[in-house]
Amino acid sequence: MKIAIASDHAGFPLKEVVSEHLQAAGHEIIDFGTNSTASVDYPDYARPAAQAVANSQADRGIVICGTGLGVCMTANKVSGIRGARCTDEYSARMSRRHNDANVLCLGQRVTGVGLALSIVDAWLAEPFEGGRHARRVAKIEASL
Ligand code: RB5
Repeated sequence: MKIAIASDHAGFPLKEVVSEHLQAAGHEIIDFGTNSTASVDYPDYARPAAQAVANSQADRGIVICGTGLGVCMTANKVSGIRGARCTDEYSARMSRRHNDANVLCLGQRVTGVGLALSIVDAWLAEPFEGGRHARRVAKIEASL
């Protein structure tokens, strides 16, 4: 898969770990920064990554900040994006099965590295169920 990834300073170390993990698994990464722990504003990084998913430059997106909240709020402002902030594997799987989430939002200050990687793997592998869930997801877009 082609995966757009971005973080602010608070998510930068986890972004690097997730990027390496995904590349080792054969995924292609499009890195929208940031590239250090110097303080930046998360919308400046999360938005371009979400836009890359919305315009099909990437198949999925992963955005990371301290809590996962700011990047998720930003991603969900982009039309066509269904960003899910996940702190457990069950939610990650369900965000795919029922909500067809196309951006995963993680918080480095909330979720440890081991769990974060398990969440990422579960989220990437889980299919969308379609059916009645497709109708509901279409209604999300219709309400824009
Ligand atoms: C940065 O201090 C922090 O506010 C940011 O990473 C994020 O948690 C915001 O939602």
